[in-house]
Amino acid sequence: MTGAAGTTAAEALTREQAAAELERLAHEIAAHDRLYYQDAAPAISDAEYDALRRRNDAIEARFPDLVRPDSPSRRVGAAPGAGFAKVTHAQPMLSLGNAFDGDDVREFVARVRRFLALAEDAPVDMVGEPKIDGLSVSLRYERGRFTLGATRGDGAVGENITANLRTVKDVPDELRDRAPDIVEVRGEIYLPHGAFARLNAEREKEGQPIFANPRNAAAGSLRQLDATITARRPLHLFAYGVGEFSGEPADTQWALVERLKGWGFPVNPLARLCHGTDEALALYDEIAGRRARLPYDIDGLVYKIDRIDWQQRLGQVSRAPRWAIAHKFPAERAETVLREITVQVGRTGALTPVANLEPVTVGGVVVGRATLHNEDEIERKDIRKGDTVIIQRAGDVIPQVVEVVMEKRPKGTRKYKLPQTCPECGSLAVREEGEAVRRCTGGLVCPAQATERLKHFVSRNAFDIEGLGGKHVAAFWTEGVIKTPGDIFRLAARERAGEIALAAREGWGGKSVENLFSAIEERREIALDRLIYALGIRQVGQATARLLARQYGTLDGWRGAMTHAGAREGEAYDELIGIDGIGPSVAADILEFFAEPHNVAVLDDLAGELTIAEVARPAASSPIGGKTVVFTGTLATMTRAEAKAKAESLGAKVTGSVSNKTDYVVAGADPGSKAKKAAALGVTVLSEDEWRELVEGPK
Ligand code: IVH
Repeated sequence: MTGAAGTTAAEALTREQAAAELERLAHEIAAHDRLYYQDAAPAISDAEYDALRRRNDAIEARFPDLVRPDSPSRRVGAAPGAGFAKVTHAQPMLSLGNAFDGDDVREFVARVRRFLALAEDAPVDMVGEPKIDGLSVSLRYERGRFTLGATRGDGAVGENITANLRTVKDVPDELRDRAPDIVEVRGEIYLPHGAFARLNAEREKEGQPIFANPRNAAAGSLRQLDATITARRPLHLFAYGVGEFSGEPADTQWALVERLKGWGFPVNPLARLCHGTDEALALYDEIAGRRARLPYDIDGLVYKIDRIDWQQRLGQVSRAPRWAIAHKFPAERAETVLREITVQVGRTGALTPVANLEPVTVGGVVVGRATLHNEDEIERKDIRKGDTVIIQRAGDVIPQVVEVVMEKRPKGTRKYKLPQTCPECGSLAVREEGEAVRRCTGGLVCPAQATERLKHFVSRNAFDIEGLGGKHVAAFWTEGVIKTPGDIFRLAARERAGEIALAAREGWGGKSVENLFSAIEERREIALDRLIYALGIRQVGQATARLLARQYGTLDGWRGAMTHAGAREGEAYDELIGIDGIGPSVAADILEFFAEPHNVAVLDDLAGELTIAEVARPAASSPIGGKTVVFTGTLATMTRAEAKAKAESLGAKVTGSVSNKTDYVVAGADPGSKAKKAAALGVTVLSEDEWRELVEGPK
């Protein structure tokens, strides 16, 4: 059997041939690296180079013991397949809230004014700049030298891609000007249009799959385990902010942008300081008009409150700053034909109708499917099989069907009716009073629900098990290899005991199975909030999981409390719905989960396999970490919202009523009955000044 290049396919090589081939590849690849790096005169295309690297990897995968000390796969970063090391960001990398029109932007500014207790017409300056459609990175410099580069990851933990970022010319090795001792520079990596087109043309010529858009190409280039491949892709950077910083970065965002420039970073030339909303919106129109001619993709503008002391006071809510907002460009639309409506069954049993479309390009991506949400939505828009429809796609959002082009409706179409039974398991699908979705009642008997739950369990923001993709999960479930989350952690032992034989499966080899086992092993220790999120309880997303983890601290604490709260009354229940951000409806879903004995059994079984890290308790240095605080009366120097946000950011819990669990009552002017109750219970009552001294230290 021969491969494309006329050489013997990796699978057909004898051991001896493999050793000789690996030696030849090591020398050949090293020679190409020299030509590329030292002489800047590559002799082969990127695609040909990639093909050599892949062949090397394929042979090494078959004969792991033949990997040479000078193997190209050993030269950079981690061992192939092992992935990138994780990096906890010194300061989280936030995301942004969205504005879709001028009113949303005005509301953003009004919110800022209210939060800071500014007058309604107080001037608010903002930096406006393009929102680059690339990948955000954090670049850490210590004493002026680049020491660590990371992807955003889930915002708290990213991946160490230092070696790759060192190959990006826009990332300085050393900072110019007076650099602080420590600074994390935040910015966006992107691939310009020209480079994207060249890369794809080359890939097409080589018969390799092309990238759908520059963002995907940039991501693919940046997440190469081998930095020499990244180096061949002309990635660029725009720096736009800082994370951790020793000293004070600047007084204003605008001055910060200047400093970034001074240190040697490219900053976006279209950024402007805008005095008020009207100027910001004028900049939006101007940049929108130039968008098509820019050499890189942008998907909107970002406005940032200019005063950094205000940014600090505004802080963040869930994972987005209150001091910045993304003003998105309208979603791109296209017209196409709806071929068929199929039904997907999700993790929670929800039946989601999906439009299968004549593939069409929208905003640089080929779209073949779009969500139809639920039966009411289909009814309202009267969407039928065979219709010509307008679809839209905004950023990473799932494409949607906006409307039907009625003039183009063919004769003989019929109204759509969602099935009343689950298409996956045949169980009854019911729609409860007041709910928009119809759900399969099959529970874990339904293969779709069972596998979707497992997929969620291993997904990126949950257990994040690399190498265990959706297809594998579904196949393993069908074969009975993995039925519950706990089974995942017993795979390696069962393989070694000969009870299962993953290594013998098609498409798997000893090496990929070992990689999978080590990826699983790495997750045996897990943070409580991730575990809670991974359970896939309805309405419990990452933010709610974090709230629960913070409140209860340990799995046992949480599990015990939920059992007690099951009665839906009493102290445990009050504590649950007393958590800011958890209302009765979310509480009901959590308690329903625990009321199902099967869920509890699965959780207990899983817990036996894991070491669960307590959730990072609020910083020990915070004087109010873990304390319960009540604000009452009118505060003079800050709004109630600001005081509450500040307290929470320092790890305190803010509640509305005083009880014997309250640690501090902060009394402003005219405090009323809460201060009295506090005095009666012997709870410490602080004046506003005393409070500020406690959280900010003496002046
Ligand atoms: S500021 C705390 N500025 O947009 C401020 N972000 O939706 C957070 N992005 O993850 C980011 N261009 O990757 C900011 N000029 C810009 C940006 C920008 C692109 C990305 C960034 C972030 C995402 C948030």
